[in-house]
Amino acid sequence: MSDVGRKAHWENVYTTKGETEVSWYQESPAPSLELIALARLSADASIIDIGGGASRLVDALVDRNVGQITVLDLSAAALDAAKQRLGNKAANVRWEIADVTKWEPSQTYDLWHDRAAFHFLTDQADQSAYVDRLKKAVKRGGRVIIGTFALDGPEKCSGLPIVRYDAASLSGTLGSDFKLIDARRHDHATPWGAVQRFQFSTFRRA
Ligand SMILES: C[S@@+](CC[C@H](N)C(=O)[O-])C[C@H]1O[C@@H](n2cnc3c(N)ncnc32)[C@H](O)[C@@H]1O
Repeated sequence: MSDVGRKAHWENVYTTKGETEVSWYQESPAPSLELIALARLSADASIIDIGGGASRLVDALVDRNVGQITVLDLSAAALDAAKQRLGNKAANVRWEIADVTKWEPSQTYDLWHDRAAFHFLTDQADQSAYVDRLKKAVKRGGRVIIGTFALDGPEKCSGLPIVRYDAASLSGTLGSDFKLIDARRHDHATPWGAVQRFQFSTFRRA
């Protein structure tokens, strides 16, 4: 998919569908919060949610006073929805409209979180560009939490082809700078009751 097509797809999704009309909606991002808690971040830690969209993860992190939070997404409409929901609290968050494969990080982070964004990168060049950004943006010793569809999960997400992973294949794609420290599966229930099998893998940046 071209860069223009990718952006147009996501702007269309977030301008035409309500929050609970998308398969990835979660009222509570419990699996991600559990993994972030395991990182035992300090109060001044920096966190980035890649492809955060309109997810409620940012609300939960702001409410828990978890460090300095950045949400990055290709879609301005997605970030606007999250900002509107947060109201005054949105000012405590950094919002970046960018394609992660083209983005130039201006700071480093203690924790990188990505739920269901990386798996859309089906081209090897895009995957390499993503890993380059990971290397630039995550501090040595920092954590990387990536949720993708599992090997027995759906073949498409939002109507687009995706790549399914287990912890070993994701580890191979990220390379030796990222040491696998936690791997777990999660069955996500869509708003209409279908089950989507996810793989959540956590890495430590060497
Ligand atoms: C399936 S949604 C998941 C949203 C959110 N992480 C959640 O769990 O609710 C995928 C998100 O990734 C974003 N996205 C897709 N490709 C991207 C890219 N190359 N760069 C940045 N964001 C991207 C989309 O705009 C969308 O918000």
